[in-house]
Amino acid sequence: MKKKILVAISGGIAVYKVAQLVSNLSKKYEIQVIMTKHARAFMSPLTFEALTGRAVPKAMFTPDVHYDQISHIHLAKWADIIIIAPATANLIAKMAHGLADDLLSTTMLATRSPILLCPAMNTNMLNHQATVANLELLQNRGIHILESERGLLACGDFGSGKLPEVSIIQETAEKLLEINQKQDLTGLEITVTAGPTQEALDPVRFITNHSSGIMGYSIAEAAQARGATVNLISGPTNITAPPGVSLIKVISARDMFDAVQSVFSETDILIKAAAVADYRPTETFRNKIKKQEGDLQVKFVRNPDILAWAGEHKQAHQVLCGFAMETEDLLDNAKAKLQKKNCDMLVANSLRDEGAGFGATTNVATLLWPNQEPKALTLMSKKDLSELILDELLKIKKVK
Ligand code: C5P
Repeated sequence: MKKKILVAISGGIAVYKVAQLVSNLSKKYEIQVIMTKHARAFMSPLTFEALTGRAVPKAMFTPDVHYDQISHIHLAKWADIIIIAPATANLIAKMAHGLADDLLSTTMLATRSPILLCPAMNTNMLNHQATVANLELLQNRGIHILESERGLLACGDFGSGKLPEVSIIQETAEKLLEINQKQDLTGLEITVTAGPTQEALDPVRFITNHSSGIMGYSIAEAAQARGATVNLISGPTNITAPPGVSLIKVISARDMFDAVQSVFSETDILIKAAAVADYRPTETFRNKIKKQEGDLQVKFVRNPDILAWAGEHKQAHQVLCGFAMETEDLLDNAKAKLQKKNCDMLVANSLRDEGAGFGATTNVATLLWPNQEPKALTLMSKKDLSELILDELLKIKKVK
Protein backbone atom coordinates (compact mmCIF):
# COMPACT_ATOMS: atom_id res chain seq x y z
CA MET A 1 0.00 0.00 0.00
CA LYS A 2 1.26 3.46 -0.88
CA LYS A 3 2.32 5.66 2.02
CA LYS A 4 0.24 8.77 2.58
CA ILE A 5 1.65 12.27 2.73
CA LEU A 6 -0.32 15.38 3.58
CA VAL A 7 1.27 18.48 2.05
CA ALA A 8 0.11 21.59 3.90
CA ILE A 9 0.79 24.88 2.16
CA SER A 10 0.66 28.34 3.71
CA GLY A 11 0.90 31.65 1.90
CA GLY A 12 4.42 32.45 0.74
CA ILE A 13 6.01 32.95 -2.66
CA ALA A 14 7.98 29.70 -2.22
CA VAL A 15 4.76 27.84 -3.01
CA TYR A 16 5.90 27.72 -6.66
CA LYS A 17 8.60 25.21 -5.62
CA VAL A 18 6.06 23.07 -3.79
CA ALA A 19 4.31 22.29 -7.08
CA GLN A 20 7.50 20.48 -8.17
CA LEU A 21 7.72 18.73 -4.80
CA VAL A 22 4.12 17.53 -5.06
CA SER A 23 4.73 16.40 -8.62
CA ASN A 24 7.76 14.32 -7.54
CA LEU A 25 6.05 12.83 -4.49
CA SER A 26 2.86 11.96 -6.39
CA LYS A 27 4.82 9.44 -8.44
CA LYS A 28 5.57 7.36 -5.32
CA TYR A 29 3.04 8.25 -2.66
CA GLU A 30 -0.58 9.13 -2.12
CA ILE A 31 -0.64 12.89 -1.73
CA GLN A 32 -3.33 15.15 -0.32
CA VAL A 33 -2.78 18.90 -0.48
CA ILE A 34 -4.39 21.45 1.82
CA MET A 35 -3.85 25.19 1.45
CA THR A 36 -4.51 28.31 3.50
CA LYS A 37 -6.50 31.16 1.99
CA HIS A 38 -3.30 33.10 1.30
CA ALA A 39 -1.59 30.11 -0.32
CA ARG A 40 -4.48 30.05 -2.80
CA ALA A 41 -3.73 33.67 -3.66
CA PHE A 42 -0.21 32.62 -4.71
CA MET A 43 -1.21 29.55 -6.69
CA SER A 44 -4.45 27.99 -7.79
CA PRO A 45 -5.48 24.76 -6.04
CA LEU A 46 -6.17 23.46 -9.55
CA THR A 47 -2.41 23.00 -10.04
CA PHE A 48 -2.28 20.62 -7.08
CA GLU A 49 -5.55 18.91 -7.92
CA ALA A 50 -4.15 18.11 -11.37
CA LEU A 51 -0.87 16.83 -9.90
CA THR A 52 -2.43 14.66 -7.18
CA GLY A 53 -5.78 13.71 -8.64
CA ARG A 54 -7.40 14.75 -5.36
CA ALA A 55 -9.54 17.75 -4.57
CA VAL A 56 -7.96 20.42 -2.40
CA PRO A 57 -10.63 21.07 0.27
CA LYS A 58 -11.63 24.71 0.36
CA ALA A 59 -12.59 25.25 3.97
CA MET A 60 -13.50 23.37 7.09
CA PHE A 61 -17.23 23.18 6.74
CA THR A 62 -18.35 23.64 3.17
CA PRO A 63 -20.96 21.69 1.32
CA ASP A 64 -18.64 21.14 -1.65
CA VAL A 65 -16.42 18.70 0.24
CA HIS A 66 -17.22 15.16 1.17
CA TYR A 67 -16.91 15.88 4.87
CA ASP A 68 -16.01 12.38 6.08
CA GLN A 69 -13.14 12.11 3.66
CA ILE A 70 -11.44 15.44 4.07
CA SER A 71 -12.40 16.80 7.43
CA HIS A 72 -9.56 18.04 9.63
CA ILE A 73 -9.89 14.97 11.87
CA HIS A 74 -9.87 12.56 8.95
CA LEU A 75 -6.82 14.22 7.39
CA ALA A 76 -5.04 14.39 10.74
CA LYS A 77 -5.33 10.61 11.12
CA TRP A 78 -4.95 9.73 7.45
CA ALA A 79 -1.41 11.04 6.98
CA ASP A 80 1.65 8.89 7.63
CA ILE A 81 3.59 12.14 7.66
CA ILE A 82 2.84 15.80 7.07
CA ILE A 83 5.02 18.27 5.20
CA ILE A 84 4.32 21.95 5.81
CA ALA A 85 5.93 23.96 3.01
CA PRO A 86 6.27 26.83 2.92
CA ALA A 87 5.54 27.46 6.60
CA THR A 88 4.97 31.17 7.16
CA ALA A 89 5.76 33.08 10.37
CA ASN A 90 2.03 33.36 10.98
CA LEU A 91 1.38 29.64 10.69
CA ILE A 92 4.39 28.85 12.90
CA ALA A 93 3.08 31.28 15.54
CA LYS A 94 -0.39 29.78 15.37
CA MET A 95 0.93 26.25 15.75
CA ALA A 96 3.21 27.23 18.63
CA HIS A 97 0.25 28.65 20.53
CA GLY A 98 -2.37 26.09 19.56
CA LEU A 99 -4.53 28.39 17.42
CA ALA A 100 -6.85 26.60 15.06
CA ASP A 101 -9.03 28.84 12.90
CA ASP A 102 -8.95 27.20 9.48
CA LEU A 103 -8.66 23.73 7.97
CA LEU A 104 -4.87 23.69 7.90
CA SER A 105 -4.16 24.91 11.44
CA THR A 106 -6.96 22.74 12.86
CA THR A 107 -5.52 19.67 11.17
CA MET A 108 -2.09 20.45 12.67
CA LEU A 109 -3.61 20.59 16.15
CA ALA A 110 -5.55 17.37 15.65
CA THR A 111 -2.76 15.26 14.20
CA ARG A 112 -0.38 12.91 15.96
CA SER A 113 1.54 12.14 12.75
CA PRO A 114 5.15 13.30 12.39
CA ILE A 115 5.41 16.80 10.93
CA LEU A 116 8.21 18.16 8.76
CA LEU A 117 8.00 21.94 8.93
CA CYS A 118 9.82 23.98 6.27
CA PRO A 119 9.90 27.66 7.20
CA ALA A 120 10.32 30.18 4.36
CA MET A 121 10.09 33.93 4.84
CA ASN A 122 11.97 37.20 4.93
CA THR A 123 15.22 37.09 6.99
CA ASN A 124 14.07 39.65 9.53
CA MET A 125 10.84 37.78 10.10
CA LEU A 126 12.72 34.50 10.51
CA ASN A 127 15.24 36.01 12.91
CA HIS A 128 12.65 37.90 14.95
CA GLN A 129 12.70 36.76 18.58
CA ALA A 130 9.05 35.75 18.31
CA THR A 131 9.66 33.40 15.36
CA VAL A 132 12.87 32.04 16.90
CA ALA A 133 11.03 31.27 20.15
CA ASN A 134 8.05 29.74 18.33
CA LEU A 135 10.28 27.47 16.26
CA GLU A 136 12.11 26.37 19.39
CA LEU A 137 8.81 25.55 21.04
CA LEU A 138 7.70 23.46 18.09
CA GLN A 139 11.04 21.67 17.90
CA ASN A 140 10.84 20.82 21.59
CA ARG A 141 7.44 19.30 20.95
CA GLY A 142 8.99 16.92 18.47
CA ILE A 143 8.19 18.70 15.21
CA HIS A 144 11.01 18.28 12.70
CA ILE A 145 12.21 21.61 11.39
CA LEU A 146 14.03 21.81 8.08
CA GLU A 147 16.34 24.79 8.27
CA SER A 148 15.84 27.35 5.53
CA GLU A 149 18.70 28.27 3.19
CA ARG A 150 20.59 31.52 2.72
CA GLY A 151 20.40 33.44 -0.51
CA LEU A 152 18.70 36.25 -2.37
CA LEU A 153 15.06 36.32 -1.29
CA ALA A 154 12.06 37.27 -3.41
CA CYS A 155 11.72 40.52 -1.48
CA GLY A 156 15.24 41.55 -2.61
CA ASP A 157 16.91 41.01 0.79
CA PHE A 158 19.85 38.65 1.14
CA GLY A 159 19.91 36.17 4.04
CA SER A 160 18.33 33.05 5.43
CA GLY A 161 14.68 32.27 4.78
CA LYS A 162 14.75 30.52 1.39
CA LEU A 163 12.81 27.29 1.10
CA PRO A 164 15.40 24.48 0.64
CA GLU A 165 15.64 22.72 -2.71
CA VAL A 166 12.84 20.29 -3.47
CA SER A 167 15.27 17.33 -3.41
CA ILE A 168 16.31 18.18 0.17
CA ILE A 169 12.70 18.42 1.36
CA GLN A 170 11.90 15.12 -0.33
CA GLU A 171 14.94 13.34 1.11
CA THR A 172 14.16 14.55 4.66
CA ALA A 173 10.50 13.58 4.33
CA GLU A 174 11.40 10.11 3.12
CA LYS A 175 13.75 9.61 6.06
CA LEU A 176 10.96 10.59 8.42
CA LEU A 177 8.58 8.23 6.68
CA GLU A 178 11.06 5.42 7.16
CA ILE A 179 11.46 6.12 10.90
CA ASN A 180 7.69 6.31 11.27
CA GLN A 181 7.26 2.93 9.62
CA LYS A 182 9.89 1.29 11.81
CA GLN A 183 8.24 -1.67 13.55
CA ASP A 184 11.44 -3.05 15.02
CA LEU A 185 10.00 -3.65 18.52
CA THR A 186 7.22 -5.96 17.37
CA GLY A 187 6.96 -9.04 19.59
CA LEU A 188 8.62 -7.38 22.58
CA GLU A 189 6.87 -6.51 25.84
CA ILE A 190 8.22 -3.28 27.29
CA THR A 191 7.38 -2.00 30.76
CA VAL A 192 7.97 1.68 31.46
CA THR A 193 7.59 3.35 34.84
CA ALA A 194 6.94 7.08 34.84
CA GLY A 195 6.18 10.07 36.99
CA PRO A 196 6.61 10.63 40.71
CA THR A 197 5.29 8.60 43.63
CA GLN A 198 3.30 10.04 46.52
CA GLU A 199 3.96 8.88 50.06
CA ALA A 200 1.09 9.66 52.40
CA LEU A 201 1.72 11.29 55.75
CA ASP A 202 -1.92 11.57 56.74
CA PRO A 203 -5.20 11.62 54.76
CA VAL A 204 -4.48 15.09 53.34
CA ARG A 205 -0.69 15.35 53.04
CA PHE A 206 1.98 13.50 51.13
CA ILE A 207 5.67 13.63 50.18
CA THR A 208 6.42 13.71 46.45
CA ASN A 209 8.83 15.22 43.88
CA HIS A 210 8.73 17.37 40.75
CA SER A 211 8.73 14.56 38.17
CA SER A 212 6.27 15.39 35.35
CA GLY A 213 6.27 11.95 33.73
CA ILE A 214 7.01 13.41 30.28
CA MET A 215 10.13 11.28 29.74
CA GLY A 216 8.48 7.96 30.62
CA TYR A 217 5.28 8.71 28.68
CA SER A 218 7.33 9.70 25.67
CA ILE A 219 9.27 6.41 25.79
CA ALA A 220 6.02 4.46 26.14
CA GLU A 221 4.54 6.26 23.13
CA ALA A 222 7.63 5.70 20.99
CA ALA A 223 7.83 2.00 21.95
CA GLN A 224 4.16 1.51 21.12
CA ALA A 225 4.56 3.22 17.74
CA ARG A 226 7.46 0.88 16.97
CA GLY A 227 5.31 -2.20 17.56
CA ALA A 228 6.01 -3.16 21.18
CA THR A 229 3.36 -4.23 23.67
CA VAL A 230 3.70 -1.56 26.32
CA ASN A 231 2.84 -1.49 30.04
CA LEU A 232 3.02 2.03 31.42
CA ILE A 233 3.15 2.07 35.21
CA SER A 234 2.59 5.64 36.21
CA GLY A 235 2.56 7.66 39.39
CA PRO A 236 0.21 10.67 39.53
CA THR A 237 0.77 12.96 36.49
CA ASN A 238 -1.22 15.42 34.41
CA ILE A 239 -0.59 13.72 31.10
CA THR A 240 -2.83 11.44 29.12
CA ALA A 241 -1.47 7.99 28.38
CA PRO A 242 -0.76 7.34 24.70
CA PRO A 243 -3.50 5.28 23.05
CA GLY A 244 -2.78 1.58 22.87
CA VAL A 245 -0.55 1.26 25.92
CA SER A 246 -1.72 -0.64 28.97
CA LEU A 247 -1.79 1.91 31.78
CA ILE A 248 -1.41 0.89 35.42
CA LYS A 249 -1.95 3.87 37.70
CA VAL A 250 -0.17 3.83 41.05
CA ILE A 251 0.29 6.25 43.93
CA SER A 252 3.10 5.11 46.22
CA ALA A 253 6.45 3.39 45.69
CA ARG A 254 5.02 0.23 47.21
CA ASP A 255 2.11 0.30 44.73
CA MET A 256 4.62 0.74 41.93
CA PHE A 257 6.66 -2.17 43.24
CA ASP A 258 3.54 -4.39 43.21
CA ALA A 259 2.70 -3.30 39.66
CA VAL A 260 6.23 -3.96 38.38
CA GLN A 261 6.25 -7.39 40.02
CA SER A 262 2.90 -8.24 38.43
CA VAL A 263 4.23 -7.76 34.87
CA PHE A 264 7.91 -8.52 35.38
CA SER A 265 7.96 -12.14 34.23
CA GLU A 266 6.47 -11.22 30.82
CA THR A 267 8.62 -8.11 30.43
CA ASP A 268 11.48 -8.19 27.91
CA ILE A 269 12.70 -4.66 28.58
CA LEU A 270 12.08 -2.72 31.80
CA ILE A 271 12.66 1.03 31.62
CA LYS A 272 12.52 2.72 34.99
CA ALA A 273 12.01 6.39 34.23
CA ALA A 274 9.94 7.03 37.37
CA ALA A 275 11.25 9.21 40.18
CA VAL A 276 10.49 6.83 43.00
CA ALA A 277 10.54 8.16 46.55
CA ASP A 278 13.41 6.56 48.43
CA TYR A 279 11.68 7.06 51.79
CA ARG A 280 8.14 7.14 53.12
CA PRO A 281 6.85 8.35 56.47
CA THR A 282 7.21 5.53 59.01
CA GLU A 283 3.60 6.01 59.97
CA THR A 284 0.62 7.16 57.91
CA PHE A 285 -1.67 8.85 60.36
CA ARG A 286 -5.31 7.81 60.17
CA ASN A 287 -6.49 11.37 60.91
CA LYS A 288 -5.18 14.75 59.81
CA ILE A 289 -2.22 15.79 61.97
CA LYS A 290 -3.27 18.76 64.08
CA LYS A 291 -1.20 21.89 64.53
CA GLN A 292 0.43 21.92 67.96
CA GLU A 293 2.93 23.96 69.95
CA GLY A 294 6.53 23.43 68.91
CA ASP A 295 8.08 21.49 66.02
CA LEU A 296 6.82 18.36 64.35
CA GLN A 297 9.21 15.49 63.81
CA VAL A 298 8.49 12.96 61.07
CA LYS A 299 10.41 9.70 60.84
CA PHE A 300 10.98 8.00 57.49
CA VAL A 301 11.69 4.42 56.47
CA ARG A 302 13.27 3.19 53.25
CA ASN A 303 11.04 2.23 50.36
CA PRO A 304 11.82 -0.91 48.39
CA ASP A 305 14.28 -0.20 45.57
CA ILE A 306 12.29 -1.56 42.63
CA LEU A 307 15.11 -1.39 40.12
CA ALA A 308 17.54 -3.11 42.48
CA TRP A 309 14.94 -5.86 42.98
CA ALA A 310 14.55 -6.26 39.20
CA GLY A 311 18.36 -6.37 38.89
CA GLU A 312 18.49 -9.24 41.36
CA HIS A 313 15.64 -11.17 39.76
CA LYS A 314 16.16 -10.61 36.05
CA GLN A 315 16.41 -13.55 33.69
CA ALA A 316 19.22 -13.72 31.14
CA HIS A 317 17.03 -12.44 28.29
CA GLN A 318 15.65 -9.44 30.20
CA VAL A 319 17.06 -5.95 29.68
CA LEU A 320 17.02 -3.37 32.47
CA CYS A 321 17.34 0.35 31.94
CA GLY A 322 17.56 2.72 34.90
CA PHE A 323 17.52 6.48 35.10
CA ALA A 324 19.58 8.67 37.37
CA MET A 325 19.08 12.32 38.07
CA GLU A 326 21.92 13.89 39.95
CA THR A 327 22.82 17.36 41.14
CA GLU A 328 26.54 16.62 41.56
CA ASP A 329 29.22 14.12 40.40
CA LEU A 330 26.91 12.87 37.67
CA LEU A 331 29.16 10.28 36.07
CA ASP A 332 30.54 8.74 39.24
CA ASN A 333 27.14 8.45 40.85
CA ALA A 334 25.59 7.07 37.67
CA LYS A 335 28.34 4.46 37.25
CA ALA A 336 27.87 3.33 40.84
CA LYS A 337 24.09 3.03 40.32
CA LEU A 338 24.49 1.08 37.09
CA GLN A 339 26.61 -1.48 38.87
CA LYS A 340 24.74 -1.61 42.15
CA LYS A 341 21.37 -2.12 40.50
CA ASN A 342 22.68 -4.58 37.90
CA CYS A 343 21.37 -2.51 34.96
CA ASP A 344 22.18 -3.10 31.31
CA MET A 345 21.98 0.62 30.61
CA LEU A 346 21.56 3.79 32.62
CA VAL A 347 20.33 7.17 31.39
CA ALA A 348 21.90 9.87 33.52
CA ASN A 349 20.95 13.50 33.56
CA SER A 350 22.04 16.38 35.69
CA LEU A 351 19.58 18.85 37.10
CA ARG A 352 22.28 21.47 36.55
CA ASP A 353 22.24 21.20 32.74
CA GLU A 354 20.16 23.79 30.94
CA GLY A 355 17.28 22.15 29.08
CA ALA A 356 17.34 19.04 31.29
CA GLY A 357 15.17 17.96 34.15
CA PHE A 358 11.67 18.18 35.55
CA GLY A 359 8.81 19.34 33.39
CA ALA A 360 11.05 20.21 30.42
CA THR A 361 10.29 18.80 26.99
CA THR A 362 14.03 18.52 26.31
CA ASN A 363 16.80 16.62 28.03
CA VAL A 364 20.59 16.40 28.12
CA ALA A 365 21.55 12.83 28.92
CA THR A 366 24.57 10.59 29.18
CA LEU A 367 24.13 6.89 28.46
CA LEU A 368 26.16 4.36 30.46
CA TRP A 369 26.70 0.64 30.03
CA PRO A 370 28.61 -1.92 32.15
CA ASN A 371 31.32 -2.66 29.57
CA GLN A 372 31.37 0.36 27.31
CA GLU A 373 32.48 3.97 27.50
CA PRO A 374 29.66 6.37 28.44
CA LYS A 375 28.11 8.35 25.60
CA ALA A 376 27.29 12.02 26.30
CA LEU A 377 24.35 13.20 24.20
CA THR A 378 23.55 16.77 23.19
CA LEU A 379 20.40 18.70 24.08
CA MET A 380 17.44 17.08 22.32
CA SER A 381 13.69 16.69 22.65
CA LYS A 382 12.53 13.95 25.01
CA LYS A 383 10.84 12.41 21.97
CA ASP A 384 14.16 12.10 20.09
CA LEU A 385 15.88 10.86 23.24
CA SER A 386 13.17 8.20 23.60
CA GLU A 387 13.89 6.86 20.12
CA LEU A 388 17.60 6.79 20.85
CA ILE A 389 17.14 4.97 24.18
CA LEU A 390 14.98 2.36 22.43
CA ASP A 391 17.58 1.95 19.65
CA GLU A 392 20.27 1.23 22.24
CA LEU A 393 18.11 -1.15 24.30
CA LEU A 394 17.16 -3.08 21.19
CA LYS A 395 20.87 -3.57 20.40
CA ILE A 396 21.37 -5.05 23.89
CA LYS A 397 18.26 -7.24 23.54
CA LYS A 398 19.51 -8.65 20.25
CA VAL A 399 22.71 -9.99 21.77
CA LYS A 400 20.95 -11.49 24.83
O1 C5P B 1 16.54 7.14 43.27
P1 C5P B 1 17.70 6.64 42.41
O2 C5P B 1 18.58 7.76 41.98
O3 C5P B 1 18.42 5.49 43.01
O4 C5P B 1 16.98 6.14 41.07
C1 C5P B 1 17.70 5.52 40.06
C2 C5P B 1 16.84 4.53 39.36
O5 C5P B 1 16.27 3.61 40.30
C3 C5P B 1 15.65 5.09 38.60
O6 C5P B 1 15.55 4.33 37.40
C4 C5P B 1 14.47 4.84 39.51
O7 C5P B 1 13.28 4.67 38.81
C5 C5P B 1 14.89 3.58 40.22
N1 C5P B 1 14.36 3.48 41.60
C6 C5P B 1 13.53 2.44 41.90
N2 C5P B 1 13.05 2.29 43.19
C7 C5P B 1 13.39 3.18 44.14
C8 C5P B 1 14.26 4.24 43.84
C9 C5P B 1 14.72 4.37 42.56
O8 C5P B 1 13.19 1.63 41.04
N3 C5P B 1 12.92 3.02 45.37
